[in-house]
Amino acid sequence: MALRALVARKSLGLGFQSEAKILAVGSAAHSRGFQTFSLPDLPYDYGALEPAISGEIMQLHHQKHHQTYVTNYNKALEQLHDAIAQGDAAAVVKLQSAIKFNGGGHVNHSIFWKNLTPVSHGGGEPPHGSLGWAIDTNFGSMEALVQKINAEGAALQGSGWVWLALDKESKKLVVETTANQDPLVTKGPTLVPLLGIDVWEHAYYLQYKNVRPDYLKNIWKVINWKYAGEVYEKESP
Ligand SMILES: [Fe+2]
Repeated sequence: MALRALVARKSLGLGFQSEAKILAVGSAAHSRGFQTFSLPDLPYDYGALEPAISGEIMQLHHQKHHQTYVTNYNKALEQLHDAIAQGDAAAVVKLQSAIKFNGGGHVNHSIFWKNLTPVSHGGGEPPHGSLGWAIDTNFGSMEALVQKINAEGAALQGSGWVWLALDKESKKLVVETTANQDPLVTKGPTLVPLLGIDVWEHAYYLQYKNVRPDYLKNIWKVINWKYAGEVYEKESP
């Protein structure tokens, strides 16, 4: 972590999200008038989610996979900046898929890390307060919600994400899936992600091999419902 950001984080008591924004300024791109993005720190150690998710998976997932999305997103943004400056319409359009894939990868993983927390920090503790009530109202019970997310996550073909979201328009909780690294917003502009579970093989294969349902069953032991509840309370009308 850059010293300047570390000092700012400590002195201002900033959380993970604010820290990501501080770290988001890439010097080369910044001098050209736009921001690039940096890999956010995890708010826990790589091995802190064991035995639900191994430290080896967490380290590779964060340092290699997420970092690659960040690197390629920044590259695409720089190319986009140049293409716009040169008035190259075809190049602008050509870059959209790389921006969606790598930018989506950065957005999704930044949420995912915050959706997890060690058992010693409340991982797996069911939500209290208004989110708990909303889950019961919309799905019948927490068990029914978990069953629905696990079923949709297991059935998702190829790589993607399964989400618990607040639909700000209908004011209801919904379960959605997205393919590849599509962020939740691609399923609807009024959807706010409360919980996103990565069902790419890179998220579980080293530990669970091809048995995605076992990964989905165990991940609930380290889900950070406190974070989801805070987002829900902030975003609900
Ligand atoms: Fe991932």
